[in-house]
Amino acid sequence: MSTAHDMPAAPIKTLDKDGREITTVGFNRFGFDSEVPIDVLRSLYLRPHYVLKANELQTLPTAMEEQQNAQFTQGADYQSKSIYHPDTQAISYTTLSRFPPVKLLPMTARKRILVTGGAGFVGSHLVDRLMLLGHEVTVIDNFFTGSKTTVSHWIGHPNFEMVRHDVVEPFMIECDQIYHLACPASPPHYQFNAVKTIKTSFMGTLNMLGLAKRTKARFLISSTSEVYGDPEVHPQTEDYWGHVNPIGPRACYDEGKRVAETLTYGFQRQDGVDVRVARIFNTYGPRMNPYDGRVVSNFIVQALKGEDMTVYGDGTQTRSFQYIHDLIDGMIALMNSDETRPVNIGNGDEFTIGDFAKLVREIVEKVQDEDGVKRKRRVEIKYEPIPTDDPQKRRP
Ligand SMILES: NC(=O)c1ccc[n+]([C@@H]2O[C@H](COP(=O)([O-])OP(=O)(O)OC[C@H]3O[C@@H](n4cnc5c(N)ncnc54)[C@H](O)[C@@H]3O)[C@@H](O)[C@H]2O)c1
Repeated sequence: MSTAHDMPAAPIKTLDKDGREITTVGFNRFGFDSEVPIDVLRSLYLRPHYVLKANELQTLPTAMEEQQNAQFTQGADYQSKSIYHPDTQAISYTTLSRFPPVKLLPMTARKRILVTGGAGFVGSHLVDRLMLLGHEVTVIDNFFTGSKTTVSHWIGHPNFEMVRHDVVEPFMIECDQIYHLACPASPPHYQFNAVKTIKTSFMGTLNMLGLAKRTKARFLISSTSEVYGDPEVHPQTEDYWGHVNPIGPRACYDEGKRVAETLTYGFQRQDGVDVRVARIFNTYGPRMNPYDGRVVSNFIVQALKGEDMTVYGDGTQTRSFQYIHDLIDGMIALMNSDETRPVNIGNGDEFTIGDFAKLVREIVEKVQDEDGVKRKRRVEIKYEPIPTDDPQKRRP
C-alpha cells in the first residue's frame, strides 16, 4: 500500500529577500561563468556524512527526513554513509560511488587552483564551487579547525587532491591561482595559541606569496573586517585604515591579517605578484563549527537546545551577516576581476545583536512548531559583560 511518504514531494523553493526564486548561485558575468545549480551544491552539505548503526534501525534517517532532504536536493544524493557495528566496536567506511557532475572545461579554461585552509568552513564551500565549475583543485590544510569530512565527497575525483600540510612550512606545486585562506577564524580558536595564529598569518602568507611569485599564479588572500578593529568610521570603507589594539587578546588575528596584507602589497610592488585582497565580513552557513563561539552558531545552538541565549554587552552593538554562497560568489568574482585594491565582501543589512538574538529565536520556534517539537519554556535572552576589544559597529 502506498503511503504519503512514497509520493514525490514538491520541491522546496528558495526565495531571495525580494521574493524571487533562486535556482543557481554564482554569476555568468564579467567575462566568466561561476554559476552552478543550488540543488547540487546543497546535496553536498545538507545531509552531512553520517554513520548508521548496523542493528539499530532507529538511527536510520526516517522516511520523512529522506523526503525533506530530497525536496531540497531534488534527489541528488552525493553523501557517503558509513556503518557502525556496536557489538564489535567497528566501523565500515564507505566512499562515494558517484561524484556530482562537474563542468567539462577546455584545457585553456581549466585552472590549477590551490586552496589553503580548504577543509575549513569557507574553504570547503569554495572547493565545492571550484570543483563543480570544472577546475583542478588542491587543498592544503593542517586540520587545526578544519576537518577532512567537509571535502571528503571529492576524495578520489580526478580533479581533486588533498594534502595535510602546515602553511608555516614552504609548499611546492605548479598552479595558476592561489586562494590563501589558512588561518583559524573564530576567537576561541585563534586565541587558543596566539603565537601560532600570528605565525600562520605571517609565515603562511610569506610562503604562499613566494609560491605565487615563482609560479606567476594569481594570489587572493582572505583578509577580514577585523583589520578595521573597533572602527571610528561607519560603514567601513576600504580606504579606512582602522582602529586596532596591537596588544589586546584579538591582536594575534587582527594584526596578523594586517601584516598579511602588508606582505601581499610588498610582493605586488617589489615582485609584480598579481594580488587580490578580500576583506571578509561576518559569514554564516552550513558546515560552521557549531561550537566555534561565533554569534550566529552560538545563538542557533542555544535556541535549539532550549538554553538561554547569551548576548555579550547590552546588545546594541551591530553586525551584518552574509550567507556563505554570497561570499563565495564575491571571492570568485574578485579573483577573476582586475581589482587589485582591497575589497570588502559582506552584507550591507545591519542588525543589533539584541535584535538578531530575537530573530534567531523566532525562526527556531517557527521551525520547531512546523516539526511538532514541544518546548518546555521560551528561551530567554541573557546579558553578560562584553569581551575586551569587541567592536561596537560592523558594516561593509
Ligand atoms: N567566517 C568568517 O566569518 C570570516 C570572516 C572574515 C575572514 N575570514 C577568513 O576566511 C578564512 C577562512 O575562515 P573560516 O571561517 O573558514 O575558518 P575555519 O577555521 O573554518 O577554516 C580555516 C582553515 O584553515 C586551516 N588552518 C589553520 N591554520 C593552518 C595552518 N597553519 N596551515 C594549514 N591550514 C591551517 C584550518 O584547519 C581550517 O581548515 C580565514 O582566513 C579567515 O580569517 C572568515
